[in-house]
Amino acid sequence: MADVSVTIDGIKVTVPKGTYLIDAARKAGINISNFCYLPGLRAYGACRMCVVEVSGRKGMETVISCGTPAADGQVVLTNSEHVREEKKRVLQALDVDHPVDCPICEASGRCDLQDYCYEFEVTKVGSLDRPKIVRPLERLSPFIDLDRDRCVLCGRCVRICDETIGAEALAWADRGVEAAIDTPFGKSLLDTACTSCGSCVQVCPVGALSSHTYEISAHNWEVQPTRTTCGMCSVGCQEYVETYRNRVVQVSSEDSVGVNDGVLCVSGRYGLDFVNHKQRLLAPMIKRDGKLTEVSWDVALDYVAANLSRYAGEQVAAIGSSHTSNEEAYLLQKIVRGGLKSNNIDHDARLGSTPAMQALGDALGYPAATNGIQDIYMNAGCVLEFNSNLYETHPVFAYNLQKNVRITGQKLIVINPLRTRLVEWATIHLAPRPGTELALLNAMARVIIEEGLNEADYVSSKVDGYEQYLASLMTTTIDEAANETGVPAEDIRRAARLYATGGKTEQQQEIKPPPVAANTSVPVSGGPEQGIGVPAMANSSQSAPTPENAGAASQSPAQVQAQATTPDPQYKASSIVYMPGVIARAADEANAVYALVNLALLTGNVGRKGGGVNPFVGQNNKQGAADSGCLPNYLPGYQRLDDTAAVNKFAQAWGVDALPTTAGRDLNTMYAGAAAGEIKAMFIVGENPVLADPEPERVKRALDNLEFLVVQDIFMTETAELADAILPAASFAEKDGTTTNAERRVQRIRMAVEPRGLARPDWAILADLGVRLGLKMDYRNPSSIFGEMVKLMPIYAGITYSRLDVARYLELVVPMPGAISYKQLKLQGYQWPVPDRSSKGTDVLYADGFGTHRPNLRVVTYTAPTATTEQMPLTLTAARSSYAFNMGTLSRYSRMLNIVEPDDGLRVNPADARRMGVANGAPIKLFTSVGEAKSKLIVTEDVPHGQALLASGQATRDDPIRATMVAHDGYQRPDSELIPDLRVLVARIEQDKG
Ligand code: SF4
Ligand code: SF4
Ligand code: SF4
Ligand code: FES
Repeated sequence: MADVSVTIDGIKVTVPKGTYLIDAARKAGINISNFCYLPGLRAYGACRMCVVEVSGRKGMETVISCGTPAADGQVVLTNSEHVREEKKRVLQALDVDHPVDCPICEASGRCDLQDYCYEFEVTKVGSLDRPKIVRPLERLSPFIDLDRDRCVLCGRCVRICDETIGAEALAWADRGVEAAIDTPFGKSLLDTACTSCGSCVQVCPVGALSSHTYEISAHNWEVQPTRTTCGMCSVGCQEYVETYRNRVVQVSSEDSVGVNDGVLCVSGRYGLDFVNHKQRLLAPMIKRDGKLTEVSWDVALDYVAANLSRYAGEQVAAIGSSHTSNEEAYLLQKIVRGGLKSNNIDHDARLGSTPAMQALGDALGYPAATNGIQDIYMNAGCVLEFNSNLYETHPVFAYNLQKNVRITGQKLIVINPLRTRLVEWATIHLAPRPGTELALLNAMARVIIEEGLNEADYVSSKVDGYEQYLASLMTTTIDEAANETGVPAEDIRRAARLYATGGKTEQQQEIKPPPVAANTSVPVSGGPEQGIGVPAMANSSQSAPTPENAGAASQSPAQVQAQATTPDPQYKASSIVYMPGVIARAADEANAVYALVNLALLTGNVGRKGGGVNPFVGQNNKQGAADSGCLPNYLPGYQRLDDTAAVNKFAQAWGVDALPTTAGRDLNTMYAGAAAGEIKAMFIVGENPVLADPEPERVKRALDNLEFLVVQDIFMTETAELADAILPAASFAEKDGTTTNAERRVQRIRMAVEPRGLARPDWAILADLGVRLGLKMDYRNPSSIFGEMVKLMPIYAGITYSRLDVARYLELVVPMPGAISYKQLKLQGYQWPVPDRSSKGTDVLYADGFGTHRPNLRVVTYTAPTATTEQMPLTLTAARSSYAFNMGTLSRYSRMLNIVEPDDGLRVNPADARRMGVANGAPIKLFTSVGEAKSKLIVTEDVPHGQALLASGQATRDDPIRATMVAHDGYQRPDSELIPDLRVLVARIEQDKG
């Protein structure tokens, strides 16, 4: 892309041709005042507040800088007398109708109108020849208020809601002086596609839109913002926790900051009031005379240490959390391994993502996403979202993904039996019958090979097992797969071509191409450490493979192989994204991962920018808990227990003679051991298995059978109620540390408020407990724990707290109609492996090959799911909701999130409802092989005929189906009895007349 140079206020700056002047000025370090501009959104040109003078043919001309591309040699003045006068006029016009209510306005102190009036010396408000318009404050939703009289009509809210969130929940209403924003037909936002993300409030430059604060109102200059990493899901959004008088007041974000680029979701923005909840545990307790009694920390820790050490070895086990920090996960496993001489350490991801993540590790080397979030946005030509609902589970990733798809022409394949929200933007939606996904993935692989779209050179040089894999694929024709899955054969072929060619086969259907066609990013000179470049958009004139080219079903593997050619090198990469733990039936979860990896290997998409296989684990620190060693079969950093040198390294560093080297019990077998009396003591940190694990009664019985249970948590949970000792912990907003997001990025969490009552950060509790168990744990702070970790974990070796505090910049160039917008994305943190302090981290795993681990194309055998019958005619699956994050284990303590009544009915297609004679909204009974439950019927076209969808809502102990289905899917009963069809159950419903 050609560059142009302009001189702005005497500073020469060079930018890509087509860059708006307002962006060029930012690159020169000059911020041009504006109301309606937002980097990355389409230019709007509504406010004229961004006017500048530019040199033109007739001398200096006045233009709006947000809609005028920079021209080579141009001279620009942003603060001349003329410019200041123009801006003053704009402000005076705005002030005429604007209420002068700064003293009671929520935005006072961070209002652009207020600031600009000072900056441009607006001292008088103009007069009106009509009565001033006064409209009442309107509550748009339980989260958001609108004061139309304060609105400056910039349209930022409308555009961010449409372009970035994809919700289109706000629009313009009325005209002239009555013009204002509104919801469609004046509805509550909750009755629109609004996701309650709060982005509209965040970008409003004045006090027209405001969020309800959690509990205390304070002036903006009184609140203390602390930059931290969101504690909910694994996107790892950067946010500011704003506090006042040691209470969390609200959460805000900042444009161009973090992997989230300034956007948050409802959980991240409005769900953190759980920190202030009145049911927080405030003091340590131990059981005396059968009753939990408050005691001092010393008494509690002595009691816990004495009891845990009584059972040291095989009789003790611990469960860690996906919500604690890396340092805390590390200390917990250190206590169990070094202090209690046991490898019986696991964390809650066992019931969700661990099996799928370990399958990914088996297949490629690391149990982690291969690529990064920005890399996927910027470099993938096609994204395949597999059997997940990332718009609900990882909203901010999905928001930005849909934006990218709409702006850049990136292709999106959604594979899901259900019509999830991302389907709205999908190039193609494949809806296989639940449980038949493996047949579909195998069929796509067969199409890729038959049509010569596989990367033959890549496969032959880097991958084993091609012959057997090919032979296995040839046993099922595409038509047979279509028949089995219910997906039309031509759709299977189309999706396979899209995936294999990075979306190139459908470039001719490009949405209106912007004049500057490439979506690229350019490293900031001297600034960013991770510039991500992409080739220009592939030429659309090349013909796509046609169905006629497709190999005949009767071809032998050898014939098919002979046709394989090296694909067009201009193909962009394709990226696979999914949420592990929910993508297949329990017995198929690992195979589903292998089948996805097969597609990626076959097309050379592993080790490539914009490609890869990218699981989005559930909670914020699932990745970090596993990295830090909360696994029964790995030491921290995935070092093996049979690696004597590694074991000795840890033993020496921890000052212990020896460490156990046989793999411990995983979470399933811990419960089985507890039920059988083999495990006698358990230490559960930050988890509530009695609520969140499958078959809650079974878990409860196992825990009841223990001789000693200690729970360390922030709330009195259902699990804590069973404990012999309770240690009150600090929430993520009350401590320092690090967490690792879904793209392997290690980021800081920072203490924003003091812990409630006598609660203490988990790391501090664990350190004091460790000392009592004979370990040397003289940590001054989480940084010193991290210092020990990085010496022992090669994947984190080059990370330090001070490096994590240094911002790095990624320059993003976004095509816009008529021009381009670019912005510097401020990123922090490092994606592991970070082998040393000169390393900038690893944005793409395996870019240099697979080392000694040569991956296999694995044969993935498909077996048909349990068939429905006349008695059980529905196939039941579960869904998730962003309002009830992780089954509500945290969100149920959020007053804000609980205002929204969970939509937790059972959804069926209208045809099925008619056939069963049950009306929309009717109370029903649901019968399945794992139990029965009561619910209400929701009739919707979004669920295909023959299927039923149970929304996750917030699990309760008396709802065994939801607890079992939603909590996790790769579930094996503690007594080793496998439930193969847990995610996909056959079911029947009937009206509940009682
Ligand atoms: S909260 Fe989010 S989805 Fe709702 S109107 Fe505002 S920007 Fe749109
Ligand atoms: S409500 Fe705020 S963001 Fe929306 S148009 Fe008005 S001033 Fe702009
Ligand atoms: S819950 Fe996830 S997507 Fe939402 S703000 Fe937090 S990290 Fe971001
Ligand atoms: S910011 Fe340029 S016209 Fe509003």
